[in-house]
Amino acid sequence: MNAPAIEAIDLVKRFGAADGRPAVDGVSFAVPQGTVLGLLGPNGAGKTTTVRMMTTLSEPTSGTARVAGYDVRTEPDMVRRNMGLTGQAATVDELLTGRENIRMIGGLYGIGRRDLARRGDQLLEQFSITEAADRPVKTYSGGMRRRIDLAVSLIASPPVLFLDEPTTGLDPRSRADLWEVLRGLVAQGTTLLLTTQYLEEADQLADDIVVVDRGRIIAEGTPLQLKQQAGRASLVVTVSHAEDLETARRLLAESGAEVHVDVGARQLTASAEGIADLTRVAGWLHRHDVDVDDIGLSRPSLDDVFLSLTGRRAEDDNEEVG
Ligand SMILES: Nc1ncnc2c1ncn2[C@@H]1O[C@H](COP(=O)(O)OP(=O)(O)OP(=O)(O)O)[C@@H](O)[C@H]1O
Ligand SMILES: [Mg+2]
Repeated sequence: MNAPAIEAIDLVKRFGAADGRPAVDGVSFAVPQGTVLGLLGPNGAGKTTTVRMMTTLSEPTSGTARVAGYDVRTEPDMVRRNMGLTGQAATVDELLTGRENIRMIGGLYGIGRRDLARRGDQLLEQFSITEAADRPVKTYSGGMRRRIDLAVSLIASPPVLFLDEPTTGLDPRSRADLWEVLRGLVAQGTTLLLTTQYLEEADQLADDIVVVDRGRIIAEGTPLQLKQQAGRASLVVTVSHAEDLETARRLLAESGAEVHVDVGARQLTASAEGIADLTRVAGWLHRHDVDVDDIGLSRPSLDDVFLSLTGRRAEDDNEEVG
């Protein structure tokens, strides 16, 4: 396995909350180089606080983190030199144009003028801001700000990238475009840590997921492992004729599965292991002349995982801890 490019080592952050509980309460994980870690959790779980400690913006109360092999406590300059960050709130200069923002940050990183122009144009193009590139950022829409913010954080091609809810406020098309850009970076060896409220995003991009709640890790694994942990797959059959419901129920129940019947929808749901069950049941139904409108296997989504772990939907943002 690759050496970890990002490591959290028992990170703790205490803000002095009334209940005395730390906002981040002993978080450890490792992200191998060239992979993507998705940090998931409901509002107030401690995601941003964790990212801020890992990017030298906030000092850990205890514990530490290593980025590209450098310790955030003892080598913060080296950490900053090897990482890019897109925070939850935009950080670009409102009065400058998009292109000027890129030029300014690229200059701070010591990128030469010609490289900067070429790379800048490429990023403006990738994030579809070419047309607005020469307007001050204060005239940008929320989604455009988000995109220029991301473009700016990518200008120095840092080996490690932290993205705190990178696609919040983006429309589906821009979100998909960004995923493409990120996949390209990872394919070239960039290591990515992203926090997100969108489980589909974690599913699409993350090699591994860490779920935090109230400052602690409550689950971790690959997206598939987490889904399997959330429950079994089920087989969903819609029969064409209501009079076949009973026959279908009997056939499904014979294999020992627990069967749920929705008469109005002419639908039966039974627990299942996988595709083998699907083909077997389809065969039975056919041999017993039961016509079906639809038959399929339904697996738990990451949404189900999230709900079963935290008791909350990822999109609920009415919970304020602290
Ligand atoms: N500067 C601060 N001072 C005091 N408390 C803070 C500070 N920053 C964060 N907190 C508290 O720490 C906890 C974790 O907050 P954090 O912003 O890390 O959550 P989050 O997981 O990023 O949530 P969200 O999904 O809403 O972005 C919350 O209870 C928050 O109120
Ligand atoms: Mg946050």
